[in-house]
Amino acid sequence: PELRALRRKLLAWYGRNARDLPWRKNRDPYRVWLSEVMLQQTQVEAVRPYFLRFTGELPAVEDLASADESRVLRLWEGLGYYRRARSLHAAAKKIVAEHDGRLPDTLEGLMALPGVGRYTAGAILSIAYDKRAPIVEANTRRLYARLMALEVDPTSTEGERRLWEFAERLLPRSGFSNFSQALMELGSLVCTPKTPRCDACPVAKHCRAYQAGAIESLAPVTRK
Ligand code: ADE
Repeated sequence: PELRALRRKLLAWYGRNARDLPWRKNRDPYRVWLSEVMLQQTQVEAVRPYFLRFTGELPAVEDLASADESRVLRLWEGLGYYRRARSLHAAAKKIVAEHDGRLPDTLEGLMALPGVGRYTAGAILSIAYDKRAPIVEANTRRLYARLMALEVDPTSTEGERRLWEFAERLLPRSGFSNFSQALMELGSLVCTPKTPRCDACPVAKHCRAYQAGAIESLAPVTRK
């Protein structure tokens, strides 16, 4: 795809279509981190009330670090995958003990935290710190696989490698925070798993799968 035009159209589309989500109110790294962990296995609308309650009760890393585990798990109750909550709690303690209460702003520092993998680290670096970092998660994996008409299994080692490489090439020169969010928004609102809305897609002209009439065969990609 022609990347410069693709970036420009994506950002223009995001400017018009960005949802008003509670974790987009500011770029507080703690909130970005929490939202990304909650969104890993849970839909946006389900996350919304949990995020508001969690940040209302535990507004900063220090509050999370000093909370009893039972309280953290109670705030998580209903979201499932409780290991996420335990890792979050352990990571908050580590951030207070070793980083003076501030989330690291490097890939290595972030990935050394419990529960933080390459994707979550990239999301925090780009969204919260506006640093140059690619992201590949469920929504963007599907989007990239279609844009590049990826012909190998996107969940295979080779598929993963090609997706991260594409994500890297796609990055703009600046404005990484908006860019990451625009990619995820397009993936979740337009480039949906079943019957994607190609007629409403700002980058269909740049999509190899769409151009080849192969969208359906490249549809169902869900693994994280
Ligand atoms: N899915 C994962 N992260 C997201 C985000 N920041 N906004 C919307 N959907 C997401």
